[in-house]
Amino acid sequence: MGVLSKLLQLISFIGVIQLIAMVAAAAAQPKPGCLEKCGNVTIPYPFGLSEGCYLEKSFNIRCNDSDLTAKTGNVLVTNISIEDHEIHVKAREARDCYNASGSIEFNNTTWFRAGKFTISTTKNQFTVLGCDTAGIIRWEENEKIYSTGCRSRCNDLSTAVNGSCSGVGCCNVEFPDGLKNYNLSVSSFKNHTNIWNFNPCSYAFIVEKGKFNFSTDYLQKRERERRPMVLDWAVGDERCEEARRKPNFACQDQNSECHDPKTRSGYQCKCKLGYQGNPYLPLGCQDINECEDATLNKCKRAQDCENTKGSHICRCPKWYHGDGTKDGEGCAPDFVLMIQIAIGAGVGFISLLVFSSWMYFVLKKRKIVKLREKFFQQNGGLILQQRLGQQEGSTETVKIFTVDELKKATKNYDESRIIGRGGFGTVYKGFLADNKIVAIKKSRIEDENQIEQFINEVVVLSQINHRHVVKLLGCCLETQVPLLVYEFVSNGTLFKYIHQESNASTFPWETRLRIAAETSEALWYLHSTASIPIIHRDVKSTNILLDDDFTAKVSDFGTSRLVPRDQAQLATVVQGTLGYLDPEYLQTNQLTEKSDVYSFGVVLVELLTGKEALSFARSEEQRSLAMYFISSIKEERLFEILENHIVAEGNKDQIQQFVELARSCLAVKGDERPTMREVAMELEGIRKMQKHPWVNLEANSEEVEYLLGEACEANKYGESSITITTAYYHSMNDHGTYALGDGR
Ligand SMILES: *[C@@H]1O[C@H](CO)[C@@H](O)[C@H](O)[C@H]1NC(C)=O
Ligand SMILES: *[C@@H]1O[C@H](CO)[C@@H](O)[C@H](O)[C@H]1NC(C)=O
Ligand SMILES: *[C@@H]1O[C@H](CO)[C@@H](O)[C@H](O)[C@H]1NC(C)=O
Ligand SMILES: *[C@@H]1O[C@H](CO)[C@@H](O)[C@H](O)[C@H]1NC(C)=O
Ligand SMILES: *[C@@H]1O[C@H](CO)[C@@H](O)[C@H](O)[C@H]1NC(C)=O
Ligand SMILES: *[C@@H]1O[C@H](CO)[C@@H](O)[C@H](O)[C@H]1NC(C)=O
Ligand SMILES: *[C@@H]1O[C@H](CO)[C@@H](O)[C@H](O)[C@H]1NC(C)=O
Ligand SMILES: *[C@@H]1O[C@H](CO)[C@@H](O)[C@H](O)[C@H]1NC(C)=O
Ligand SMILES: *[C@@H]1O[C@H](CO)[C@@H](O)[C@H](O)[C@H]1NC(C)=O
Ligand SMILES: *[C@@H]1O[C@H](CO)[C@@H](O)[C@H](O)[C@H]1NC(C)=O
Repeated sequence: MGVLSKLLQLISFIGVIQLIAMVAAAAAQPKPGCLEKCGNVTIPYPFGLSEGCYLEKSFNIRCNDSDLTAKTGNVLVTNISIEDHEIHVKAREARDCYNASGSIEFNNTTWFRAGKFTISTTKNQFTVLGCDTAGIIRWEENEKIYSTGCRSRCNDLSTAVNGSCSGVGCCNVEFPDGLKNYNLSVSSFKNHTNIWNFNPCSYAFIVEKGKFNFSTDYLQKRERERRPMVLDWAVGDERCEEARRKPNFACQDQNSECHDPKTRSGYQCKCKLGYQGNPYLPLGCQDINECEDATLNKCKRAQDCENTKGSHICRCPKWYHGDGTKDGEGCAPDFVLMIQIAIGAGVGFISLLVFSSWMYFVLKKRKIVKLREKFFQQNGGLILQQRLGQQEGSTETVKIFTVDELKKATKNYDESRIIGRGGFGTVYKGFLADNKIVAIKKSRIEDENQIEQFINEVVVLSQINHRHVVKLLGCCLETQVPLLVYEFVSNGTLFKYIHQESNASTFPWETRLRIAAETSEALWYLHSTASIPIIHRDVKSTNILLDDDFTAKVSDFGTSRLVPRDQAQLATVVQGTLGYLDPEYLQTNQLTEKSDVYSFGVVLVELLTGKEALSFARSEEQRSLAMYFISSIKEERLFEILENHIVAEGNKDQIQQFVELARSCLAVKGDERPTMREVAMELEGIRKMQKHPWVNLEANSEEVEYLLGEACEANKYGESSITITTAYYHSMNDHGTYALGDGR
């Protein structure tokens, strides 16, 4: 017996153990209609208790009805295993015993005839017990008798070692594999003399390995026992190949397989892998449901397991391994596929994101463009283009700005950029890309008429190029509210300088006079010089702007009208600002250039008095500055309303003439008012007067007269004003009182 073969047998033994574990639940059935049990022992087919119940004679198990013991030959059967092809039995020991005087008491040999069964040397061992003993095993093979045995001696109990079977009190000896019969006997050398008191008997037996552990107690016993043994069995004498052709082939079930045992004759039937039960019976092998036992299947998750005939499948989600044929291999995740899916999903998601945000911006941009086009039309962009187109050359001066340009210029219409607010809308200060400062007017337009007004202002201003008229640089029509872009006039409105305490007191007469002159010049220009006469319609101190050196610039042409040359009068809806409105126009709705003259007259009075055109703080009669002024002159208490410092610093003559001019401009009847040309000439004259001292008036009277004469076609007040001024001059100095005018 080579070490290698032992090792191989051990390995196969381990395999058997595993198999046993796998089919633990297998039910070993007898042949139908046969007794299943004898006492505690189950008798499965091919074994049987009676004729017809066993496969062949050697598988007949005898059952003692009185003590219910199963026997084969002279051994007790304790268990029969179909899977392992084993039969567990219990066999008697051989024994001889002596009495104290050395006479033999018992001499019992053992014989064993196993018939079809064979004794495996790997599963059993031959053991001899005693201190004066020789144990012999004898067998017959091929009609020859063989024997082997061992000697066991000891003089003292203490020399024997528990668990050790090495010749002292106990000995083992190998016997050949596959024995089918044997005789056992024991003998003594000295009739157990001297040792009798602790070892009266000797024993010999074959025992299943692992079921016997030597102990010194055994040396003292006198009873004969039965020892467990394991026998192998197989069917018939032929090998599978031969047996299969015979009608009584034992492997009955279609799910059974035939095996040839390596070292034994005959054949053995086994259920195929994945089945359990009795392969010797038809339909004896039953499918094992591997899914019911987690140790039998490789599925990672119980719910993936699906039982099949003879096997099982681990059904995995497709993405798990991508290939359905790999089912049952434990559902190892297919990492390549998972990565592919992950990358695919990631790329898809990102491109979707990019695409949708791109679409969003495109649509938003389109919407904005459409909206701007809509506003452009709504704001009269087309009309404007048309009208600007009619005037050759002028289109160059008016630029059409884009929304973005103006947004940038005003810091998105920041509060801090607001320089004016009023009924007309809001005015922002803006810085264009070329660092040019502009004023951007965001009109407040509520209806279509106002759009026309707006277009009007653009058209009117586009035709004007005058140093005392605010220059329109361009416009923007793409916003809901149209935007106008003007040159920026740095010092704000005239109103601010004459009505705010802090400014008014330091705003010198000379400047006031110049502003009046410049304004009248601009209005004269509008009324006459411009290609088509323009009536401003809203002349007032808030519409006169002042730049760095207090040069006047007329602004706000929102209500202005172009008057065809052949028409002196124009019927319109009355528009303008209360306090400045021409009373005649108010009554007749007939718009003439003289309406502007009236309004300008009010501005002149404002310059003189520093009082507002309309103030509800004043009494009813004095509410309108024009009326207040006229009545003051009539009542000869003009001094009450004149700005103090003007009286102090101003050339009295100039003031006198200025007052007269204002009064004439405020004449109730338009015809009685001077034209703007006359007003401008007169103011120019008044300014010149300053350069000539009063004492030289006589010498210059001719010039003055000439100037006035040219300025005013029907000047009825020229001379008298001069004289009155003289009186005024004296009275100022002598009495400190005013005696102005003759009440005209
Ligand atoms: C049967 O088994 C029972 C319990 O395991 C045991 O007490 C009894 O001795 C056994 N009988 C035989 C005949 O082996
Ligand atoms: C059956 O068992 C009884 C009691 O052990 C015994 O007396 C008898 O001889 C046995 N019969 C057979 C046939 O072995
Ligand atoms: C018989 O052997 C089987 C395994 O082969 C075992 O499960 C069973 O418990 C044994 N029966 C007895 C009575 O020893
Ligand atoms: C032992 O046996 C022999 C023969 O049977 C007998 O003569 C002898 O007295 C026995 N000795 C004792 C101590 O029993
Ligand atoms: C042992 O006993 C046998 C028979 O009982 C006898 O013939 C023999 O002489 C004895 N031997 C010794 C050494 O006592
Ligand atoms: C025991 O019996 C066997 C045969 O049954 C015989 O050969 C042997 O001599 C006997 N031994 C003694 C000591 O009587
Ligand atoms: C054992 O042998 C003795 C004599 O050698 C004999 O009297 C006895 O009946 C035998 N026992 C059995 C169970 O055979
Ligand atoms: C075994 O013992 C029996 C009777 O006791 C005998 O007939 C047979 O020949 C013996 N066999 C051997 C091999 O000794
Ligand atoms: C046998 O018995 C000895 C001592 O009682 C013990 O050490 C040993 O482990 C036992 N062996 C087996 C296999 O039970
Ligand atoms: C051996 O084991 C038995 C019990 O199994 C015990 O009584 C005995 O003392 C042991 N012998 C030794 C030497 O340990």
